Amino acid sequence: MTQDVREDYADPAFQADPHPMYAQWRATTPVRRVRLPSGVTAWLVTRYDDARQALTDPRLSKALPVGQATDNALPPPIGAAVSRHMLAADPPDHTRLRRLVSGAFTARRIEALRPRIEEITDDLLAAMAGRDRVDLIDAFAFPLPIQVICELLGVPAADRDSFRTWSNTIVAGSANREQLPGALQAMVTYIRQLIAERRAHPGDDLLSGLIGVRDEQDRLSEDELSSMVFLLLIAGHETTVNLIGNGAWLLLDQRERWDRLRAEPALLPGAIEEFLRFEGPVETATFRVATEDLEIGGTTVQAGDPVLVALLAADRDDARFPDPGELRLDRAQNPHLAFGHGIHYCLGAPLARLEAQIAFGKLLARFPGLRLAVPAHELTWRPGVLIRGLQSLPVVPGPA
Ligand code: HEM
Repeated sequence: MTQDVREDYADPAFQADPHPMYAQWRATTPVRRVRLPSGVTAWLVTRYDDARQALTDPRLSKALPVGQATDNALPPPIGAAVSRHMLAADPPDHTRLRRLVSGAFTARRIEALRPRIEEITDDLLAAMAGRDRVDLIDAFAFPLPIQVICELLGVPAADRDSFRTWSNTIVAGSANREQLPGALQAMVTYIRQLIAERRAHPGDDLLSGLIGVRDEQDRLSEDELSSMVFLLLIAGHETTVNLIGNGAWLLLDQRERWDRLRAEPALLPGAIEEFLRFEGPVETATFRVATEDLEIGGTTVQAGDPVLVALLAADRDDARFPDPGELRLDRAQNPHLAFGHGIHYCLGAPLARLEAQIAFGKLLARFPGLRLAVPAHELTWRPGVLIRGLQSLPVVPGPA
């Protein structure tokens, strides 16, 4: 089946609030052709059931090139040094690559990081105390997950600022088309130096472990090693920041939510799941490509067509969630797709959840009077179709 390509996806109003458009698409053209700001055309899947099906369909490959410059976080034509990772692989490569690091991300291993995450959180909040106004993204939501993933991997603290610039440029994709090749090149050069340095002086971090797997057991190629580091750093830089940022915005925009969570802290784990469903950090899952003609939700997708699953749209499908446009801190059933689904389900989900629980728990306790410093309509969202997150979130901390 063919459909006209519509241009709405590039509309700036869409960026500010994509939900009304997604609702319309779910109702009228749930699997639709979209032209992304880069010029790539892809099928966009917007209904919950179709999204789950697409995310588990082995005929939708992660390993095939999309064939054009893409908008996605991890576009294919950027060289083997950053594209031979698990999120761009099908089994059996995917299985092998994921298994090499999955041990470091189990719920038990992640729970062991709790004291260190609490310490980092306390330090960041202490630095906010007494200030008239701070950007909660810059001061808190961004540095917390970065510091954690950098320590886990063994990336020196001094390099983190350069990383933020490169990483933001890469994830914005075509929205930053001119800077993209330079940012990728800088990142690759940096990762290679980091690997060389750690090879010479191994530590007890994840990177040293991966270098051991590469050098001693030959279960990983050099490109797979640098790509793994690239993926973990990007995933650690671009996602949890927006869970904390979007969640804080949702609480502060309607203050009674903030007050309720302060009064009933036991609601916090469920509230975090609801932030993930309602305004998840990953707007669309990364590109898949059809290996043969297939149907999604009654629409024929042809072999070679790129497919994007709109997680943000699927998670507000009223066929799956009662009153999906309502943020319910105590929502009972919440099988959201914010961490994806199927074999590529987010490896870092236990880490992201723990970071968010510590971050919100401590923020609510330490700054009871925290409030937005600007009207909500002045907040702007980051460009690109992959990530849903605020550019900045100015707040008044109030008394600590
Ligand atoms: C995969 C979301 C945090 C590491 C994914 C996918 C999603 C996602 C949707 C699947 C993408 C697809 O199928 O195209 C999130 C969200 C996070 C988060 C919402 C925070 C709230 C993290 C963290 C890490 C991480 C902290 C670890 C450093 C990964 C990895 C994959 C992945 C390695 C690829 C898994 C595979 O291909 O098997 N994430 N993520 N994520 N995530 Fe996360």
